[in-house]
Amino acid sequence: TDLSKIRNFSIIAHIDHGKSTLADRLIQHCGGLTLREMSEQVLDNMDIERERGITIKAQTVNLRYTAEDGETYHLNLMDTPGHVDFAYEVSRSLAACEGALLVVDAAQGVEAQTLANVYQSIEHDHEIVPVINKIDLPAADPDKVKAEIEDIIGLPADDAVLTSAKSGIGIAEVLEAVVKRIPPPVGDREAPLKAMLVDSWYDPYLGVVILVRVIDGVLKKGQGVRFMQGGTQHLIDRVGAFTPKRVELPELGPGEIGFITAQIKEVEQARVGDTITTVKGGATKALAGYKEVQPVVFCGLFPVDAAEFEKLRESIGKLRLNDASFSYEMESSAALGFGFRCGFLGLLHLEIIQERLTREYDLDLITTAPSVVYRIALGHTKNEDAKVIELHNPADYPDPSRIEMIEEPWIKAVIYTPDDYLGSILKLCQDRRGIQTDLTYVAGRAQVTYELPLNEVVFDFYDRLKSISRGYASFDYEQIGLREGDLVKMSILVNNEPVDALSLIVHRAVAEERGRGMCERLKDLIPRHLFKIPIQAAIGGKVIARETIAALRKDVTAKCYGGDISRKKKLLDKQKKGKARMREYGNVSIPQEAFIAALRMG
Ligand code: GTP
Repeated sequence: TDLSKIRNFSIIAHIDHGKSTLADRLIQHCGGLTLREMSEQVLDNMDIERERGITIKAQTVNLRYTAEDGETYHLNLMDTPGHVDFAYEVSRSLAACEGALLVVDAAQGVEAQTLANVYQSIEHDHEIVPVINKIDLPAADPDKVKAEIEDIIGLPADDAVLTSAKSGIGIAEVLEAVVKRIPPPVGDREAPLKAMLVDSWYDPYLGVVILVRVIDGVLKKGQGVRFMQGGTQHLIDRVGAFTPKRVELPELGPGEIGFITAQIKEVEQARVGDTITTVKGGATKALAGYKEVQPVVFCGLFPVDAAEFEKLRESIGKLRLNDASFSYEMESSAALGFGFRCGFLGLLHLEIIQERLTREYDLDLITTAPSVVYRIALGHTKNEDAKVIELHNPADYPDPSRIEMIEEPWIKAVIYTPDDYLGSILKLCQDRRGIQTDLTYVAGRAQVTYELPLNEVVFDFYDRLKSISRGYASFDYEQIGLREGDLVKMSILVNNEPVDALSLIVHRAVAEERGRGMCERLKDLIPRHLFKIPIQAAIGGKVIARETIAALRKDVTAKCYGGDISRKKKLLDKQKKGKARMREYGNVSIPQEAFIAALRMG
């Protein structure tokens, strides 16, 4: 295709501002869909994505559009994931485009994720076309939103396109703006092949499908290609595009976006951000920006019914086929039996995997406390040199006397909120050891920036933020590296036995409060037994909080109807002994819900 007739663009928007609806309308306008197909939103093709309205995997649609100038253009519309956990995938999708539509809800205005994504887009030198959507709403105020786009983002918004994706208003104007305002790609057909691996996913019929953006050269069926970062070689067996239906093409030239397959079995072999070139006469320098994504949040997943362990193993294996950013290894816990230690890109990613296992694979699971990755410097011992380890699981916490330093990951969080809720939000951040670095007001809304330890955010920060702001605050974060912290392992002992699934790494300053909260909650969550149950939180050997569940007292003497006193006494003695024995065994049954409920912070 003639480069001047290609336009590659993505849509950036805050969750719920109407990105998928607008994408559907653009596809429909270009004739890409039948009416029957319109009954489903095509871009979000996973159930959970649809139900939660969250876009997880980037997808691209190739459209033909005949513009007012009479020319037919090839438009590649890239869908980008809408959530912070998938920031790297967003950045690669943006790198594959020359422009972006910035969709802002005409009633809600600019929000945190709009900002994060738009700054990335600006960094990629994109031409950005503001689109103010939902103008049909009674509360729509396009002029106010225009002013916000100019004041907050610093983009001219005079010629923003006004749309109602829902009722189909302004769709042709959006397409004209794409053609007129977004520049065509540049590339050299004669140069050695360079294509960026934008995304990959597992398809049961085709194996791994790879979404690519060709920069220079040509991709063809039958070509031998090399993945420059991954170091593997493959033979291309299919080349094509999505319209949104999958169609095969003879080749993909410079500037074009499409897919290839090459008999690859695992997505792990097709990492986002890699550069694809030909085996013979290929490029020598890979494209910039490749990054291997690493899981940042870990937790244990255990079957409620131990007999389901094999089923869990199989199901996790299947999910992993499609998601290279998720990791797992076997783990055993004294309290929970056999399960898996899993790594995720963030909390939402964790929830998605957990939900898919529950729903698609029909598994009942117990999830242990999410933990971040700590870096620990250990001093030398008689038998071992000093070394640095990474800790993914509080259960593997080393001997404290050997620890010289612990570092924990920190994030920079940007929170955007109506100022009514600002006070409670500042308190929440403060309670979570946050350091405020910026606070600005624009049009009755506050934008506040905090540096926060990730381990304070992984529990329920997002839920709390949403509940104290009644859903109005939005949140975005990026990692900013490791910092030293005064961190300790807090163990929870139930009936004097440590329960490994409940142990946590916490900051010393908040340990006591967290320990107390946890003991209090467990006291309510664990039913009474025939004996007294102490619940303790401890650091090393030192107990920092304690609660006791009173014994259920079976009054055996009641049966003796006044009988002789020595018999009564004998019975009581027997009962006491029985209690002592039970206590010795540490035989407490902890209900499954207790594990998750205990971890919610008060
Ligand atoms: P994510 O995929 O989560 O990023 O959401 P999204 O930005 O794709 O939003 P989506 O298209 O799913 O729309 C969110 C909600 O807004 C849906 O209930 C839509 O029906 C509604 N919506 C989208 N466009 C319009 C519009 O122009 N007017 C009105 N009134 N509602 C709209």
